[in-house]
Amino acid sequence: MKNIKNIDNGFRRCYSYSYPAARHSGYEGKPKARPITEESMWRNLTIVFAMVFWLSVGKDAVVHGSDYPAPRYPQTPKVQRPEDLLDVARVLVKRPSTGQGAFPGYAIKPGERALIVVSTLHDRLIYEAIAMAIREAGARADLFIGQAPDLKGEGAEEPKLFLYMYAGDKNIERMSAGGLTFDQVAKMAELGDYDILIAGFGGPKPPTPHFRWEEIPWLTVDTFMAGLATFPFELQAAIDRKAWDLLSRARRIRVTDPEGTDVSWTVPPNLFGSKINNPGHLMAIPDGYFGEKPNLAGVIAGTINHTGAFPHIKVHVKSNRIERIEGGGSYGEGWQAVLKKYESTHWPGHPGPGFGWVHECAIGTNPKAGRPVNVTQLPTGTVWERRRSGVIHWGIGVHLSLERGPLRSFIEEKGVPDGHFHVHNNFPTMILETEGGEKITFIDKGRLTVLDDPSIRDLAARFSDPDQLLKEAWIPPVPGINIEGDYFKDYATSPLPWIAREGHKQPAKD
Ligand SMILES: [Fe+2]
Repeated sequence: MKNIKNIDNGFRRCYSYSYPAARHSGYEGKPKARPITEESMWRNLTIVFAMVFWLSVGKDAVVHGSDYPAPRYPQTPKVQRPEDLLDVARVLVKRPSTGQGAFPGYAIKPGERALIVVSTLHDRLIYEAIAMAIREAGARADLFIGQAPDLKGEGAEEPKLFLYMYAGDKNIERMSAGGLTFDQVAKMAELGDYDILIAGFGGPKPPTPHFRWEEIPWLTVDTFMAGLATFPFELQAAIDRKAWDLLSRARRIRVTDPEGTDVSWTVPPNLFGSKINNPGHLMAIPDGYFGEKPNLAGVIAGTINHTGAFPHIKVHVKSNRIERIEGGGSYGEGWQAVLKKYESTHWPGHPGPGFGWVHECAIGTNPKAGRPVNVTQLPTGTVWERRRSGVIHWGIGVHLSLERGPLRSFIEEKGVPDGHFHVHNNFPTMILETEGGEKITFIDKGRLTVLDDPSIRDLAARFSDPDQLLKEAWIPPVPGINIEGDYFKDYATSPLPWIAREGHKQPAKD
């Protein structure tokens, strides 16, 4: 797809800024016939070369062109009753329970007792269908519905949810678990002698030795029906295994993205190990790891975080720490205020003072996760899309402090934050460089390449058409990247209204 508007803008700005005289001789004024002389020919060639140079390097890292995948959305049939979702819920109820937030399975056995805890954000049809399927399987399902914290579906809300995650208000836990903290819902399940607690849509859980804990991450019917809930368990396990084995060979990692991210870091041998660090949410930086010489450097840029969209932000990073932030609108301002406030606070386990530590580069691995249609009306509506295969989310702040130890004690004694803020990349390219210098394209313009591995395709073929099963259910439309338009002018300067207006209305390929 040719990006006509962008090229036109580049042309206009190039003339206006660099060659003001030319503005009146050919572009905005009436064209005038002039004889071609050798001097004018060289002058024109110089202008063309300058334009080509400006277009290739002068506009941040936004890549224009047609080589990014076209928008795609799940085609959801009209659903009015929980019974319409029963086929999906039945698969979930039978699927093995492994405690992986990214890939729930409830493994209900006859006679069991299940407690489902949801917030007012969850669509009623989803939890009612799950409860029906549990009862069908010969078990009992009790339901607790609580009020979620009152937030808007926009990126500027992120500090309210993610500044204090496991200390303080724990708003992120309350958002997904009926207004309660994870400790409170765990207590409720314990006191009620339940076999399984179904609650939450992300984040680590406290240990629960007497019952299993599985998530209910779908807030909307369209995301529930998009395919992850019915995705074959063995296939998801094979994708995570294959991806992790490749990732663990990396000694150097570079991530680029058309929204402006370009960041790289080195990885020492044997850092990752064979145990998958967070299936469905592969950690390309093990949490809490900075290395003896932190060397992650570059720019992390984007317009989406876990609470919604925000004006384009550029987070400049050196030695894993934020050097400065550009843009981001209110989100950027809120983030900068936190950095300023805690610039001399030194959290244990971190290489130096400050709140701006890049400690999470997490990769989604399921092709069927995605963005709800009504995302801008839904607090944390963008949180589910980070699970889509090839989507990267960066976590920058203080690394997780759930376990008891010096970090947790410090946070509790000082009353300082224990959270982090996010930036998502939906079209990243991640290159892994191995010990021997081999370069592996691990993610290619948002496509997790192991999905095209012959062994994964062969396994997928045992369940259904591998092309369909391994195809992403959702790819967002972004002007200047995969649809026509100017990335900054039409989208990134103010992405929230654009997504509300156009997010699921752009022509989808299929
Ligand atoms: Fe994460």
